[in-house]
Amino acid sequence: MPSLAILSTLLALAVAFPLNNPPAPQTCNGDSRLCDRQYSNITFIGAHDSPFVGTPDNLAANQGLDLQAQLAAGIRFFSAQAHQNVLGQLDFCHTYCWEYDAGPVTDYLSTLASWLDANPNDVVTLLLVNGGFYDVSLYAAAFESTNLSQYAYAPNKTLQLDEWPTLAQMIKANTRLVALMDYGANTTTTPYILPEFSTYYFETPYDTTNPLFPECSINRPPGASAQGRMYGMNHFLDLDVLATGIDVPDNARDVETNAAEGPGSIGAQAEVCAGLYGRYPNFVLVDRVAVGEVFVAQERMNFAAGR
Ligand SMILES: *[C@@H]1O[C@H](CO)[C@@H](O)[C@H](O)[C@H]1NC(C)=O
Ligand SMILES: *[C@@H]1O[C@H](CO)[C@@H](O)[C@H](O)[C@H]1NC(C)=O
Ligand SMILES: *[C@@H]1O[C@H](CO)[C@@H](O)[C@H](O)[C@H]1NC(C)=O
Ligand SMILES: *[C@@H]1O[C@H](CO)[C@@H](O)[C@H](O)[C@H]1NC(C)=O
Repeated sequence: MPSLAILSTLLALAVAFPLNNPPAPQTCNGDSRLCDRQYSNITFIGAHDSPFVGTPDNLAANQGLDLQAQLAAGIRFFSAQAHQNVLGQLDFCHTYCWEYDAGPVTDYLSTLASWLDANPNDVVTLLLVNGGFYDVSLYAAAFESTNLSQYAYAPNKTLQLDEWPTLAQMIKANTRLVALMDYGANTTTTPYILPEFSTYYFETPYDTTNPLFPECSINRPPGASAQGRMYGMNHFLDLDVLATGIDVPDNARDVETNAAEGPGSIGAQAEVCAGLYGRYPNFVLVDRVAVGEVFVAQERMNFAAGR
């Protein structure tokens, strides 16, 4: 029979650490300095077209590492484009399912759900590119059948830039997935898939073929104001094949493109952006996350001098 002393110790522990009120996390996305930062004030390097994985000679592949390996490397932001295949199944496909079919969206979401199960102090973002302009219910079904929806953060109103929770708050609430959709979100029916362009973000131009990435204008939504919105910087270089207008990833230049500094680097373009908007981008989409110095660049944007 347990002694009174043990019982009172257990009682004290239960008061200090009640199960439904976990202690504040010590590190958030691997860094204690990020815990008290609002989600809207953090820069994430993002894997552009995260599901499309292949060797550099595969012109339909943007990444060299798969989702699991991207996560292991430290990437916490992912973009992924979905289309229905010929059978009507929702797959991650690169523009067309005949071009590159990375398999069912549910497979990818299951991998993400398992990773979140195993990594309770991390917050990740999934930016869905709704290639076929499908109804959001198609995505909701995938989120629910894989149980990923349990982790998705669903604010009960439209948040202003300064109203976003901190990473520590998201971790404590176990709402550790920010799910965004470029077009077609509907928070009335699916409160956890947040509208990217209609509400929360703008993005800089994509399909850039100038290796110097000299600009940071607002491309989508057209005519938007930077005021009050988070933003994404598209920093993946394309090659216009024989000037046909057909753009493919320019893998040969990934070392320079994904560098932290120097002409055409992540850092150089981020400074152009910061000069225009007074703050660094919230996400930076890159191809081939394992090439270059993407985490050095991320660190510098998050902890720039004086922060
Ligand atoms: C989702 O969660 C429910 C309830 O905990 C469980 O019964 C089901 O097996 C889970 N499904 C998956 C795909 O993990
Ligand atoms: C919305 O959520 C916030 C933060 O969780 C909470 O403080 C607030 O009371 C909620 N508002 C409504 C209208 O439910
Ligand atoms: C969202 O869904 C509701 C309910 O089906 C519908 O009334 C509304 O028009 C939809 N909003 C948008 C922006 O599609
Ligand atoms: C976060 O806030 C600091 C201070 O205002 C700013 O320098 C930095 O660029 C911001 N980062 C983002 C992603 O908003």
